[in-house]
Amino acid sequence: MQLVDTHVHINFDVFQKDLEALQARWKEAGVTRLVHSCVEPTEFDSIRALADKFPELSFAVGLHPLDVEKWTSESAQQILDLARSDQRVVAIGEIGLDFFKAENQEKQKTVFEAQLAIAQQLNKPVIIHCRDAAAPMTELLQKFWQERGAVQGVMHCWGGTPEETQWFLDLGFYISFSGIVTFKNALTTQESAQMVPSDRLLVETDCPFLAPVPKRGKRNEPAYVRYVAEYVAQLRGVSLETLAAQTTQNACQLFGLV
Ligand code: NI
Repeated sequence: MQLVDTHVHINFDVFQKDLEALQARWKEAGVTRLVHSCVEPTEFDSIRALADKFPELSFAVGLHPLDVEKWTSESAQQILDLARSDQRVVAIGEIGLDFFKAENQEKQKTVFEAQLAIAQQLNKPVIIHCRDAAAPMTELLQKFWQERGAVQGVMHCWGGTPEETQWFLDLGFYISFSGIVTFKNALTTQESAQMVPSDRLLVETDCPFLAPVPKRGKRNEPAYVRYVAEYVAQLRGVSLETLAAQTTQNACQLFGLV
């Protein structure tokens, strides 16, 4: 059985003391590939160093919506250059909109659009972070698709309602579920995990955040993607092996993993 953890942040300080043990555990859990996300381009060297160390790692480059105040006139060119500088860059991300408590919504939209354009130029998928912004996100993407053409991508750490999920399926996106789906009160997320077609489904940890049940509250790590996969398999009435095979194939398809 093979699993892909499609969203990790193992460059964070909280992992630096036990990376080898982390790898041993993800291997034991069946995790054969990982996609490392990026919240700001200054992380690029640390992420690349991890990919040198762990050949199963591919990675993204991008600026997170909560960090858009760091966007400058040089940022687009910088992200473009970094993405072109290493064949292991498989996506632009994580990018998106986070309106949970944002007062800079217009700036977030501008920065998101600029990074969508980079992904389109490079023909790479986007990893989208979308919090409390499903409607404006859909509107922005529909407009972008109409004016400039579609971009492939994934809605990461998805917690939307079935209705919102359908909006993004209609836009062609993959939907990735994290530990959130295992939480007792996450009923709408669980409904969403049941309705996503099997060829659009992905799993992730978003570690170190949001550890799934039965590790809730602890530091999350790539091995725990197995708990997410087990839970989603159960929700969908399929075996873990089937769910793993489907989601692994989807991750390979979206990110061009070999
Ligand atoms: Ni993330």
